This record gives sequence, structure tokens and C-alpha cells, in this order.
Amino acid sequence: MAEFRLPKNSTVKKGKYFKADDGATNVRKYNIYRWNEEDGENPRIDTYEVDMDKCGPMVLDGLIKIKNEIDPTLTFRRSCREGVCGSCAMNIAGTNTLACTKDNDEIKGDINIYPLPHMEVVKDLVTDLTHFYAQYSSIKPWMQTVSPTPSGAERLQSPEDRAKLDGLYECVLCASCSTSCPSYWWNSEKYLGPAVLLQAYRWLIDSRDEATGERLDDLEDPFRLYRCHTIMNCTNTCPKGLNPAKAIAEIKKMMVERQG
Ligand code: SF4
Ligand code: FES
Repeated sequence: MAEFRLPKNSTVKKGKYFKADDGATNVRKYNIYRWNEEDGENPRIDTYEVDMDKCGPMVLDGLIKIKNEIDPTLTFRRSCREGVCGSCAMNIAGTNTLACTKDNDEIKGDINIYPLPHMEVVKDLVTDLTHFYAQYSSIKPWMQTVSPTPSGAERLQSPEDRAKLDGLYECVLCASCSTSCPSYWWNSEKYLGPAVLLQAYRWLIDSRDEATGERLDDLEDPFRLYRCHTIMNCTNTCPKGLNPAKAIAEIKKMMVERQG
């Protein structure tokens, strides 16, 4: 018989409670998912009261404050703090986004933070992105050419062709979109997911690339591309305001057009 309940060791328990200093008058609670394979315990939600009068405005500012001043064991990724490295992606208030560009004031009530959904957790808010990057690598995300490189010159592109890369090159590979997609949750072994497909389209549409046919051949597969069912979670969640669903639709269009 099918088992629909979580195994006992997966049930998320109530964790520790860290109170703010006496005298703090502007306190918000950060409820954060914690899990450490090494201690053999169930995951838990720890609650940290943060004095917002002594904290920067973004969710990441709160996490850094907690790590620096309250609980150094809290583990998360971050680097640039300005939305360009993509490393601080996590699920905040029910949405996958970047902690460094998410304003605490946009969130009502407690600030609930989980790792990106449906990913293996390494520790706390850090997920294993090995497979995601392998999929990215599989689309050969670099310019492929067969014509000789112009001597002493760059491969030029008209302003119109360059403009076709807008809305694509800004992707920071944070994986928020792919990990919000039910098709990716259930088929991530075979389906490339919205982030990688947006990147694939970025090279398909680049006027300087000369491997368009091979790139389309590689995507012509019931799973790698066609597991997209236009659910649109990807576009709704992208913290950079990009539209992976549109990029996927454009690839499907290119597939049809080359058969005509
Ligand atoms: S498309 Fe948006 S959500 Fe997806 S990886 Fe790129 S920046 Fe992140
Ligand atoms: S820390 Fe670089 S995107 Fe958030």
C-alpha cells in the first residue's frame, strides 16, 4: 500500500527559541529550517527574535545578524549581497527568491525561511546544486563557432541582435525558478527545468553562435524540453523579473519552424 506520510525522521520539529535582548522594541521573528545530517536529528524550525532597529532592511541582513550575533551554527550561502551572484536563493515566506534583495517589509508577520524546495539539503538552508550545474553544463553554455575568427577583430553583433539577449543574460542561475516548478520536482533527472532552458535559449538566439541546429537537436526530446507544461511558477517567482516560460515557448517555436 502506498505510504503518504513522511518517514519519522523527516518530520519537522519545533526547535530552539532565541529571545531578543531586553529593551528591544522593534522585534520580528525569523523562523528558520535547520538540519544537520551529522547530528542524526530530525529537521527543526528554530525561532530567532531579531531587533530590527539594529538590522539592515533585507532578509539576508537578518540572517547575517543571526549568524554573527546569535547563533554561529546557522548555515546559508551568500556572496555579493546585491542580487548578482545568485547564491542566496531560498524559500522565503512561501516564495523562492534571493534573500539579499527581499525586503523584510514586504513580508507580513513572521519571516519563515526554508531551503529551495525539492532539493537535497546539505545543511540548513544550503541545498545540493550539483545536478543543476551538470544540467547547465549539458547545454554547452558558451559560444560555438565554425567560421574563422575575424582577424584582429571581435565577432560583431548588430544592436538589434544584441537586444535579443535582453531578459536572458541577466539570469544569475539562482535556481529559484527550476525549484518552483512541479515538472522539475517530479522529473529533474530528465527535464532540464526553466533556468537551464532559459540559458539554452540565450545561446540559441545569439546571432554569433553557429551551433543552433545541434543545440535544437540536443533539446528535441520528450523530457529535456517538452516536460514544460506552462505552469508559469518559474516566471512568477524569478527574483530578477525574467520570463523563463517565454524562453521555453520560443524554443518550442524554433523546433516547429525548422520543420516547416
Ligand atoms: S531565470 Fe530567474 S529564477 Fe531562474 S535561475 Fe535565472 S535569475 Fe534565477
Ligand atoms: S548574495 Fe548574491 S544574489 Fe544574494
